[in-house]
Amino acid sequence: MFHVKRKPFPQDFLWGSASAAYQVEGAWDLDGKGKSIWDEYVRIPGTTYKDTNGDVAVDHYHRYKEDVALMAEMGLKAYRFSIAWTRILPNGTGEVNQAGIQFYSDLIDELIAHNIEPLVTIYHWDLPQALQDKYAGWESRQIIDDFDNYCRVLYKHFGDRVKYWVSLNEQNVFIGLGYLAAVHPPKVSDRKRMMQANHHANLANAKAIASFHEMVPNGLIGPSFAYGPAYPKSALPADIIAFENANEVESYWWLDVYCKGKYPRIAWNFMEENDLAPVVEPGDDAILAAGLPDFIGVNYYQTATYEWNPIDGITGDASSQNTTGKKGTSKSTGIPGMYRTVKNEFLETTDWDWTIDPQGLRIALRRLTSRYDLPILITENGLGAFDDLTADEQIHDTYRIDYLAKHVDAVHDAIADGARVLGYCTWSFTDLLSWLNGYQKRYGFVYVNRDEESMKDLRRMKKDSFYWYKKVIATNGEDI
Ligand code: NOJ
Repeated sequence: MFHVKRKPFPQDFLWGSASAAYQVEGAWDLDGKGKSIWDEYVRIPGTTYKDTNGDVAVDHYHRYKEDVALMAEMGLKAYRFSIAWTRILPNGTGEVNQAGIQFYSDLIDELIAHNIEPLVTIYHWDLPQALQDKYAGWESRQIIDDFDNYCRVLYKHFGDRVKYWVSLNEQNVFIGLGYLAAVHPPKVSDRKRMMQANHHANLANAKAIASFHEMVPNGLIGPSFAYGPAYPKSALPADIIAFENANEVESYWWLDVYCKGKYPRIAWNFMEENDLAPVVEPGDDAILAAGLPDFIGVNYYQTATYEWNPIDGITGDASSQNTTGKKGTSKSTGIPGMYRTVKNEFLETTDWDWTIDPQGLRIALRRLTSRYDLPILITENGLGAFDDLTADEQIHDTYRIDYLAKHVDAVHDAIADGARVLGYCTWSFTDLLSWLNGYQKRYGFVYVNRDEESMKDLRRMKKDSFYWYKKVIATNGEDI
């Protein structure tokens, strides 16, 4: 019988965990930091769950040493964090804020001193408000050079110590939710504007990658894509067309630009026919082709199932998604004449209606490998859930252990299938702010004693999953 043999995880596999500046740091206006679009957005009443914000978050800015000590105790091999553009360049451009450089330099040194590989995300959604005010942020081509300038400051200061870099985090999400679903800043709902902002983000990404290769020749860089692999609802040919349309419009629209330096033809044709294609200037193709990544970053949470959507069908976008933590409140989304989402009857869902599908991660890694043949870094995967703190201060998050174990197993299968996976970062290390869901939706190995009603004391407490991941790392993924 033919079969594919399982091999051990590579010896240098990066067992990691991830966070983002706005979701953990707090200190939103300290030490010269400028305001980001999130600092402003969360102050609009009714925008986030119980009007929660990241002013204090989990105070990682002041407690990073304690957090790194916990990572070291766990044996974590890599920590992915993002840099707040507004700490480095408070107005987006101009004078560099030395206090900002110092904070990240200290964090990087602290990680290295504990044998933890720093993985830096350059942009995790917190655009300087000054650039939004000046020229509407991603909607202007000016962002391309300003982003490149910011990146160059980072490469210059940290390129000697940081090997792995993520350029843009989930461009498909910050553009989709910011310019179509209108639930993230700048709260726009206009598919045409969305596509233009997205094109500028593509150019900014490619240019920053080209600069990276010039300035940090020994490092590796790639964008992190929120990849929700598509499934067809049935073998009905119309459903297969819907599934292929969804692949093109929801995934390859971004991934092909990143990895091949050009838009996918079928999706481009659809955009052009519907007057949605972005304005592409002479020279743009060359910029895209010159900024190809060294790896693909993948944030994997769930798959999506599609069926045919008639021409007079639904037009829902992601704003109709569940942000409440009440099961079963999500609605279908789609594009008439293309596709619409349906519930997958085979899969369980989380309290936020996200499908739980470990095999989907294997499928994601295989598809990316077939289409692009690049190394892959899993930059996020995790379970958002309500956690209970027992009277004796324990957190028995067996559901999280179960979720993560099945996903690690799927990564192991994908490696056997031939995918080149550099590492696996869970989301998240400590509990942190969920952008729209406050502090009730928890992802961490470390419980942080705070909620939306009161600050409490921000004390860190290890969940059962902390000890589980420690064992996974110690056995290099053999004992899950
Ligand atoms: C993706 C984002 O990168 C992160 O910021 C977010 O909190 C998680 N997914 C969970 O939704």
